[in-house]
Amino acid sequence: MTGIKRWLAGFFIVVGYNSLTLFGATLVTFAAGAIVLLLILGAVGVAKSAYLGILTFLVFPVVFVAGLLIIPLGVLWQRSHGGLSIKDGLAGPYPVLDFNKRHVRSVVEAIAVLTFVNILIISVVAYEGVHYTESVPFCGQVCHEVMEPEFAAYSDSPHSRVACVKCHIGPGASWFVKSKLSGVRQVFAVLFDTYARPIDTPVKNLRPSTDTCEQCHQPDKFTGDRLRVIPKYMEDDENTKVFNLLLMHIGGGHGEGKGIHSWHIAPGRKTEYLATDEDRQVIPYVRVTEADGRVLSFVSQDSELTEDEIANAELRQMDCIDCHNRPTHIYEMPGPAIDKRMDQGLIDPSLPGIKMAGREALERAGAEDGDIGMIAEIIRAHFKEDFPEILEKRAKDVDQAIATLEAIYRRNVFPDMKLTWGSYINNLGHEVFDGCFRCHDDGHATKSGEVIRQDCDLCHAMLAWEEEDPAVLADLGIE
Ligand code: HEC
Ligand code: HEC
Ligand code: HEC
Ligand code: HEC
Ligand code: HEC
Repeated sequence: MTGIKRWLAGFFIVVGYNSLTLFGATLVTFAAGAIVLLLILGAVGVAKSAYLGILTFLVFPVVFVAGLLIIPLGVLWQRSHGGLSIKDGLAGPYPVLDFNKRHVRSVVEAIAVLTFVNILIISVVAYEGVHYTESVPFCGQVCHEVMEPEFAAYSDSPHSRVACVKCHIGPGASWFVKSKLSGVRQVFAVLFDTYARPIDTPVKNLRPSTDTCEQCHQPDKFTGDRLRVIPKYMEDDENTKVFNLLLMHIGGGHGEGKGIHSWHIAPGRKTEYLATDEDRQVIPYVRVTEADGRVLSFVSQDSELTEDEIANAELRQMDCIDCHNRPTHIYEMPGPAIDKRMDQGLIDPSLPGIKMAGREALERAGAEDGDIGMIAEIIRAHFKEDFPEILEKRAKDVDQAIATLEAIYRRNVFPDMKLTWGSYINNLGHEVFDGCFRCHDDGHATKSGEVIRQDCDLCHAMLAWEEEDPAVLADLGIE
């Protein structure tokens, strides 16, 4: 007999043992075939859906392993029922492996070859499976409804090509294990529908940013100033375009000179704070420890804390995420979102009153249970009432404005997750949320009277504030 034939015979000696072993072997064969097929389809790019990954790396592997476990169970069952009809060699309480007998050799060879194949399949599945559970489709799209808001905002952000795990897990084995354990908890939260809507923030146990953000951003490479040109449209009939021009004092992370990063992420300086609410918005106490050991304690004038409470408080050490808490899940507010689309030409600024009507439509549509249908209603009513000729002559522009407003809504409002305008706080800035002004309010003071300053030129120079034609822009040659 040729080798293959002998192995097959050996295989059937083992699996054809009884109906249980045969059942196990059928499961294994079926699952292995399905896994291999899906791996090939995935590799050539035919089947790319996030859900197929669940089949390839979760469902079929479970079937595969279950099958593998059932085979020896079948053998054991047979043994315990005494009736070992199989030819000599396997009949005693323990098998006598007499290699002089050909079928014994066949069985052992068959088991060796199949075990090798099984280990190969399991390794490939484990390797690819780990990659899969770290992929953006798995994190962002499998639990579609739950992660839809994060995925939508992420996809439209500067980090849309950075994998979720780079920020949420980072390198190293211990965080890998933590993430898989927390992943199992999350799967149960989804299965039993016990997750918070919207998902709670700040994210507890988020890994410190030194291990995540700083994989790519090297603080000592920050430097200088950055010009921010922020176009805005006023809420008048003409949608008058104005500019805010800010020169952001980014500063260098090496701590020299002045600036946001120079001060806040200077080497050796530690800034810690106490927040009395879940959202970390109310900050009665800030403590700075300088590299030379000098300590500055700032207490808010609104603080009702006793000396004892301050001394025993658990402080949070400030890192990138206390300012950049929305580096990628950046949700917009109606006003600035419309400004951006008008500037991009997606909403025609020559449509009278569209800025105000658009903002109102978005705000009202996003209230309570959310109703995207209100947007078209409100916009059409606005034109019908005040500018009826526009609806006739510029129907296409109106339609496009409505479609764009609806797209803004879909990117930022998720009624199923109870997420609407402003649900997630953004700490970078101070216009909509307190942000920097949680501390920089001129009201946090040390005993000797130093305060955390709010001077308008501390963080940025205001080159223009709601100016129609800022001279600076022309000087800089910016159109
Ligand atoms: C550039 C880094 C970065 C990337 C990439 C990233 N996140 Fe986040 N994510 C954060 C930070 C920082 C927070 C914490 C916000 C807080 O605690 O206030 C966060 C918060 C979250 C939250 C809590 C809810 C919320 O909106 O704050 C979820 C859920 C989440 N991320 C999922 C994802 C998914 C899914 C992906 C990939 C599609 C992803 N993240 C990619 C940095 C990132
Ligand atoms: C895998 C690399 C990577 C990681 C990790 C990463 N970033 Fe970034 N980040 C980038 C790149 C690349 C850009 C530039 C994107 C561009 O300009 O289009 C960027 C841009 C930024 C910007 C500027 C955005 C703007 O408006 O211009 C900020 C702020 C930022 N990252 C903060 C963070 C924070 C905070 C974290 C950690 C939570 C983080 N990044 C993690 C690669 C990364
Ligand atoms: C005290 C708050 C604060 C902290 C802490 C902070 N940043 Fe920033 N960062 C800012 C502000 C404010 C800007 C300017 C934003 C703007 O231009 O509107 C900025 C800008 C940036 C930019 C864009 C720089 C450029 O030149 O365009 C990057 C990248 C960045 N930060 C990354 C980080 C990283 C990484 C950390 C942690 C090591 C960090 N930041 C810590 C407040 C902070
Ligand atoms: C948890 C409290 C806290 C928060 C939040 C905070 N800061 Fe600060 N910041 C301080 C303290 C304390 C100082 C030192 C006192 C001072 O210089 O006013 C400081 C100093 C600064 C300085 C002074 C730099 C110099 O050269 O003197 C800048 C710039 C600055 N912060 C920018 C920011 C920006 C931008 C934000 C918001 C994105 C922010 N800070 C948020 C606590 C905070
Ligand atoms: C502690 C730092 C800090 C101080 C002090 C500060 N700002 Fe700001 N401001 C910021 C940051 C950071 C942003 C940009 C946020 C962003 O990236 O959109 C900003 C943005 C602005 C904007 C533009 C908002 C927009 O989106 O158009 C205006 C206007 C402004 N600040 C006015 C002021 C005025 C007036 C003062 C003095 C009372 C002041 N700021 C003090 C940090 C500061």
